[in-house]
Amino acid sequence: MTFDVQAVRKNEFPLLLADDVVYLNNASTGPLPRRTMDTLAEWARHRAVPHRISQEMEFGTLDRGRRLIAELIGAHESEIALGTNTSFGLNLAAFSLPLERGDVVLSPDLEFPANVYPWMQLAARRGIEYRRLRCDDGPLNVDRLSRELEDGRVRAVTVSWVQFASGARVDLAALGQLCRDRGVYFVVDAIQGLGPLTLDLRSTPVDILACGAQKWLLSPWGAGFVYVSRDLIPQLQPHDVSWLAVKDSDDFTRLTNYDLTWRDDARRFEFITLPYQEFAAMNATLELIRELGAANVAAYSQSLADRIVEWACARGDVTLLTPAKRGQYASIISVRPPDPAAASARLSDSGVVHSFREGGIRLSPYFYNTVEEIDRTLAIIG
Ligand SMILES: Cc1ncc(COP(=O)(O)O)c(C=O)c1O
Repeated sequence: MTFDVQAVRKNEFPLLLADDVVYLNNASTGPLPRRTMDTLAEWARHRAVPHRISQEMEFGTLDRGRRLIAELIGAHESEIALGTNTSFGLNLAAFSLPLERGDVVLSPDLEFPANVYPWMQLAARRGIEYRRLRCDDGPLNVDRLSRELEDGRVRAVTVSWVQFASGARVDLAALGQLCRDRGVYFVVDAIQGLGPLTLDLRSTPVDILACGAQKWLLSPWGAGFVYVSRDLIPQLQPHDVSWLAVKDSDDFTRLTNYDLTWRDDARRFEFITLPYQEFAAMNATLELIRELGAANVAAYSQSLADRIVEWACARGDVTLLTPAKRGQYASIISVRPPDPAAASARLSDSGVVHSFREGGIRLSPYFYNTVEEIDRTLAIIG
């Protein structure tokens, strides 16, 4: 093990430990590390006396957030726009990509609604066809997608990196490369992937990637980001327009110049004013992940997920709703024991926090969980 899980638990998750629960529900909401809570509290104290908050504190916090995110995903900070949730980035994709009447947007079925409703609305408003593919035989893969792209009308593909209920994970690099080769926009909802998985956008072609930080980035509600690739930024006009989206807006003495010339970078999409305190807190968590090593966090989380998959595969009476193949899941594992509702109730009675989704028990461990917690949970389900 490359970091000391017990030390991380004690130092950063004391309230979770004090509650004496097994928290396996990170796919719903991530707990806040101690340093993140401390940052929020510190900002709340400043906020009570706003004259003590400098512009440098406000905008410096956002700058740092973009830098930390960029470092985490192998992007440049100029490609990051901070936003308050995943939906922000998905709406940006739906309403800013240059799609026209008759174009097709493709997506696998069973996406989380955040990656469905914006496209349905786009279809209703602009005559774009939004097509959902049944993917009964597993996550969307290159073969299936290349067959679908033969219909030359497909202009955009939008997909969750990791599906919210089953935990099925797509191969972003392969799908992204296929889309890039065919000149099709590739949009990703990364919220259930980033953290348990690492990402390097230098080798993974993605056009727009949206991610809330409230789950696996262990940050407050109201923090998140969207990545827009540098080549795409100049081609996209913001659909919703903030007063800081334009070049001239850094000079607060000339706010009434009203020059609608967009910033060169992804900040043209940012919707200022943003909750600075939430982003300061997000930065604190991102620093923790950096200290532990994003690759270490991912490898450890994967080892816990593997343990659940192996257990389920070895049992004849438990159906694994997550694909069993390594590489096709991340840190969401869904299982269906013979009486899932009763097993879910037993887990709750024993203090195992989990979700009951689409008829399955969804377990979503992370780097603050222990092997012993996983084994205890599986014994209760079994
Ligand atoms: C795949 C996926 N996308 C998006 C969201 C949430 O979207 P938002 O951050 O806009 O609330 C969830 C939450 O469960 C999710 O699982």
